[in-house]
Amino acid sequence: MTTSPLEQLTEQTAELLASIEALATIEALREAEASLTGKRSILSTLQKSLGALEPDARKAAGAELQEARRVVESALEARRVLLLRDARRASLEADRLDLGDVIVSDVHWPLSIGHPGLVALTQRELEDVFVGMGFSVADGPEVESDWFNFEALNIPPGHPARGLWDTFYVELGEPETVVLRTHTSPTQIHLMEHAVSTNTLPIHSVMPGRCYRRDTPDARHLVGFHQIEGLVVDRGISFGDLAGVIETFTRAYFGPDIASRLRPGYFPFTEPSAEFEVTCTICHGDGCRTCSDTGWIELGGCGVLDPAVLEAVGIDGDEWSGFAFGFGVDRCAQMRHQLGDMRALIENDTRFLGQFS
Ligand code: PHE
Repeated sequence: MTTSPLEQLTEQTAELLASIEALATIEALREAEASLTGKRSILSTLQKSLGALEPDARKAAGAELQEARRVVESALEARRVLLLRDARRASLEADRLDLGDVIVSDVHWPLSIGHPGLVALTQRELEDVFVGMGFSVADGPEVESDWFNFEALNIPPGHPARGLWDTFYVELGEPETVVLRTHTSPTQIHLMEHAVSTNTLPIHSVMPGRCYRRDTPDARHLVGFHQIEGLVVDRGISFGDLAGVIETFTRAYFGPDIASRLRPGYFPFTEPSAEFEVTCTICHGDGCRTCSDTGWIELGGCGVLDPAVLEAVGIDGDEWSGFAFGFGVDRCAQMRHQLGDMRALIENDTRFLGQFS
């Protein structure tokens, strides 16, 4: 009787498992793979020798050998997974960028922390002054329909005043013209419409925000700039209330030696209208180049709400009256900090911006 070639299979399997366990790297595993389970492996040699056995013995031995191969192959797979994971960990470790080291050695100390820009700071200060006077702060969209930016403000299509507020058109004509707002005045309309529909008059609000005009930037004009709008709608409001608010604001924001004055002006949405000027902060009223020797600098416009505007939003002009004003936030920053050129505000030069932290 021939002895089974599988007599020592248990030990041989144990040896294979031990050598798999001893593989230390994924490269070593790849090299050893053929000799462990491939065509020239002990398992394949044993497989071939089964042909010499009687059919019954061959069947039993075949099953045994198949089981041994399964055990060895799964041990090899498990080892492969483990070694791949180790290799990946090692490469991640090697590739790691230690930012702690970079910061310590490459960055200038002391580290500087960012802060809001001068325009944002100015806007906050202006809001604070008005909140201190009893106003609330509201927000409006920067993209407006023609109706909000012009028509509701008593500036119908073709009105010559549209030339003062030339802008960027997002959409022309049908179904409606859409523009980048040229002033914060359309937010007046939003607030009044809201107050009418919710029955929440009176209104005492300021509305800061970004505006756009098709201007050529220069020392005193930017294409994208900021305004702060004021709106009061209440009973028995007069031009005197408006002048008082402007004067109080001017002293609170610019200081006691800067005064305000109103000069007759024209805006389609206020009547009477005025230009609002403050003492030149450069020469303190003596006259200089910045104020063209007048001693005054124009900050914005204002006036009593035109009845046509109240009518457009459905407010009864016999019961309610009000005033509005609007002026440049960037211009305020320029006057307060005596900036020769407003374009410095948008040039992102940290040597400039860093002075206002
Ligand atoms: N919206 C006007 C402008 O941008 C300013 C203004 C606001 C005038 C409110 C009167 C009332 O020039």
